[in-house]
Amino acid sequence: MDLFYGETLAVKSARISLRRGEVAAITGQSGSGKSSLLYCLAGVLPVARGEVRFDGRVLGELDDQELSALRRERFGFVFQYGELLPELTIEENTALPLRLAGHRKAAALTAAGEVLSRLGLADLRQRRPSQVSGGQSQRVAVARALVHQPAVVFADEPTGSLDSANATAVLDEFLSLARSQGTAVILVTHDVQVASRADSQYVMRDGVLSVLAREAA
Ligand SMILES: Nc1ncnc2c1ncn2[C@@H]1O[C@H](COP(=O)(O)OP(=O)(O)OP(=O)(O)O)[C@@H](O)[C@H]1O
Ligand SMILES: [Mg+2]
Repeated sequence: MDLFYGETLAVKSARISLRRGEVAAITGQSGSGKSSLLYCLAGVLPVARGEVRFDGRVLGELDDQELSALRRERFGFVFQYGELLPELTIEENTALPLRLAGHRKAAALTAAGEVLSRLGLADLRQRRPSQVSGGQSQRVAVARALVHQPAVVFADEPTGSLDSANATAVLDEFLSLARSQGTAVILVTHDVQVASRADSQYVMRDGVLSVLAREAA
């Protein structure tokens, strides 16, 4: 696939496929096109050439409504700095994907409470994001990305703002929760150590994606 920003060709060539529950890691230097690739795969940015398929459907052929429903219901996102909504409590932040998908508040909060418990955050449910630590807020971001049991989670440096001990812990919890519910993960990371724990590893160099390692399916 190709992705242009005006005249800039940020993704020149990429071929990647994931099966259910697979964890794929993408490493590569700053500016090589990792985030841009993620946006294409998630249907956030359109590709100029090539296509992205999910569950047999080509994202570029969906209308805006279908695409946003797909992103909301089947995809989850974790960003580098968590990006929680400051005015909502931890449990409300976590429940957000379910609320957006039309679930009732009580049911959404119950499901959020369960995921938060699995990540060791049950006691923080009523707090606001400003009242928890950096590592805790990253865990909340992970909980929010997984609460609606999406098919795929797109994670762009999900532990980028944490020290290495905390990063490892959050990542362990993230991957084990994802694996337990059969959610595939596309993980962008600068950390080769982290990447080595994925089922398949790719590297982005100047807009070109190559496979480093792939587990036999
Ligand atoms: N909105 C934009 N408009 C124009 N150019 C952009 C835009 N976003 C990214 N780029 C360019 O596209 C290229 C790839 O950027 P991208 O953000 O995908 O890199 P990255 O691999 O995620 O880098 P990092 O590791 O620093 O996050 C870079 O040359 C960048 O300058
Ligand atoms: Mg990036």
